Amino acid sequence: MVTGSDEEQPMDSDCPQLSGAGQRVSADVESRQRIAEDHHALGELLDRLEATSDPNLLALELAELERLLTAHFALEEGDDGLHEMVGDAAPHMLAGVQRLFDEHRRMSARLAEIRGEVQACLDGPVARLVAASRELAQQLRRHEQAENELVAGALYDDLGISS
Ligand SMILES: [Fe+2]
Repeated sequence: MVTGSDEEQPMDSDCPQLSGAGQRVSADVESRQRIAEDHHALGELLDRLEATSDPNLLALELAELERLLTAHFALEEGDDGLHEMVGDAAPHMLAGVQRLFDEHRRMSARLAEIRGEVQACLDGPVARLVAASRELAQQLRRHEQAENELVAGALYDDLGISS
């Protein structure tokens, strides 16, 4: 049976569970879920970062960290972030939230510095050592080739074969 249009479903704004305070709770839950997911991804990334000494890998992981932290800090500092969560439940702890936000700035700045230093290391000392190693490898190939030709020439001479 087809229901008539006079039995319209209520709009979201008419639904008591999705309006006003209810909407706020829903946004808080979603925000908390996203922050928790970020923390999980961040933990995995930090495990990899702490186990990395290869500067090329380090550069990739630091870039990923910057992407993740930029979004994560924006979420925590946004309308449904930590200020809202803590302020609703325990306003006397808002100073602690501000200290954490201030630390966001310092860590983001430090991360940018470290990324710059790693890139300078890759572009400078690492690039020079890679080039020097390749040059040495090519020299060794030429050296071994010359050595083989010299030994072969000596054997031919010993056998009285002129080349
Ligand atoms: Fe966080």
